[in-house]
Amino acid sequence: MLHLFDRRVALVTGKGGVGRTTLSAGLALAAAASGKRVLLTEIGEPDGDYTPLARMFGRDTLPADPVHLRAPKDLDVGDRLHGCVLWPRNGHEAFFRTVIPVGAVVKAAMGSSALHKLLDTAPSFREMGIFYHIFTLLEAKLPDGSDRFDLVIVDMPASGHTLGLTGLPERLLALMPTGPIAEAMHKGRPYFTDPEKCAAWIVTLPEVLPITESEELLDGLRETATPVGGILMNRVLTDPFTEEERAALEPVLTDAHFGHERFVGVVSSTRALDDLEARKRSLDGGRGVEILEIEEMPLQDDALLSAIARRLQEAGGAR
Ligand SMILES: Nc1ncnc2c1ncn2[C@@H]1O[C@H](COP(=O)(O)OP(=O)(O)OP(=O)(O)O)[C@@H](O)[C@H]1O
Ligand SMILES: [Mg+2]
Repeated sequence: MLHLFDRRVALVTGKGGVGRTTLSAGLALAAAASGKRVLLTEIGEPDGDYTPLARMFGRDTLPADPVHLRAPKDLDVGDRLHGCVLWPRNGHEAFFRTVIPVGAVVKAAMGSSALHKLLDTAPSFREMGIFYHIFTLLEAKLPDGSDRFDLVIVDMPASGHTLGLTGLPERLLALMPTGPIAEAMHKGRPYFTDPEKCAAWIVTLPEVLPITESEELLDGLRETATPVGGILMNRVLTDPFTEEERAALEPVLTDAHFGHERFVGVVSSTRALDDLEARKRSLDGGRGVEILEIEEMPLQDDALLSAIARRLQEAGGAR
């Protein structure tokens, strides 16, 4: 059993095109179907007029304030699934509200174009805004005092930018060891570094290059003190052959045959996976890494989401 959704934060990471968005959405559906109050998020781009994540839920974009998301018909998520975009600006505003007691002054400051220019261009300020926006969502409470969201899932940007975000508290604390920003970083940091609260999930494909890149990401995450939940090995092709059948087929199935490409793909992906399995105990600085295989599914849209959600639900129930 992988503990896929019993922490407060799930960071879905990995290189471009491996399935981060699909698995973030699948994870959100699986967790909500399992009874968790879930907030599914992505990092906002100022000029985006639609995002693939929003499209999966029948919208063009997500707003910065959480809204209900609809699930595929065959999944019962009740009213437990929400989505929003993470905006640096929302985080900046929430942060200023904690240091400037007069709301009207914050509003005026946030309307100043000089301040916007500074916040948009100064190094790490954008990340700080995103960080603080997630933090405020994690701290949000329902009227009865319980957490508004049990789990916040972040569809992270491709690898390099992920480390920019996860390394932020350390970087800012080195620059500004005291003061209100340092205080905010100290408060928010455990949500991203405590293995009881947070896990990063590295999505990858069963091929040599993506696997190598995910091992580099594993090292980068460790350097930024981000706990890793495991590797989500996506789009695994099922191998219909036994060892003997494969050996018999290899010499006769040439590239002139229909199905050759798929056959070669299955063989090389099986080898890449076996190799990773053999080394997994020594990865992550000797701590070892869990690997969850998710099959290549001949499906699209809601049918794909729903099948992935079911796969994740059976693989990772509550602790
Ligand atoms: N297990 C799967 N089976 C079949 N198709 C899949 C599976 N996982 C993802 N896909 C497909 O792969 C494509 C890429 O997936 P997705 O957009 O989630 O990747 P991404 O990592 O978010 O990409 P980007 O770097 O562009 O953000 C999509 O067309 C998606 O439907
Ligand atoms: Mg994506």
